[in-house]
Amino acid sequence: MNAPLLAAVIGLIAPTCALAQAGDTLARPPGIEAGDATEGARLVADRQKSLCVLCHSGPFPNPHLQGDLAPDLSGVGARLSEDQIRLRVTDMRRLNPDSLMPTYAALKAGERVGAAWRGRPILVEQEIEHIVAYLASLKE
Ligand code: HEC
Repeated sequence: MNAPLLAAVIGLIAPTCALAQAGDTLARPPGIEAGDATEGARLVADRQKSLCVLCHSGPFPNPHLQGDLAPDLSGVGARLSEDQIRLRVTDMRRLNPDSLMPTYAALKAGERVGAAWRGRPILVEQEIEHIVAYLASLKE
């Protein structure tokens, strides 16, 4: 195989490999403190900011207002590790490129975003950490 062709083939294969090796977990980022489950519970139930309950049901306030587009989060802490939960809340599209779930760590951009939100993620890393601590505590 000649060199340019080989380079092209590696270019095609490499991104697929990176995805496969990315795995199912994400470690707590350096400099981010362990989350506070009480603060996480507040964030998950926040219908304006996190939006979690628009799609998910679970042991949260106002059961009649919870969505059914996504798995019930009851017992998620028994099904998934903290590192697995962190990956899902940070960027579900790494596991499911077609996911409905917003990529919470992605930068918001574009005209439709209010000035206060422009260029900022929906949830900052420390807020994701609070949510991870809360969801990990949901064992049943
Ligand atoms: C627009 C709908 C939507 C919103 C909003 C949403 N999710 Fe999801 N979520 C999903 C879907 C759908 C799945 C199932 C996996 C998939 O299809 O990508 C999922 C899966 C998950 C999972 C994995 C559950 C399991 O049992 O495997 C976790 C944890 C999770 N979401 C947490 C959250 C949290 C926390 C929030 C808010 C910060 C949130 N989600 C907001 C749609 C949503």
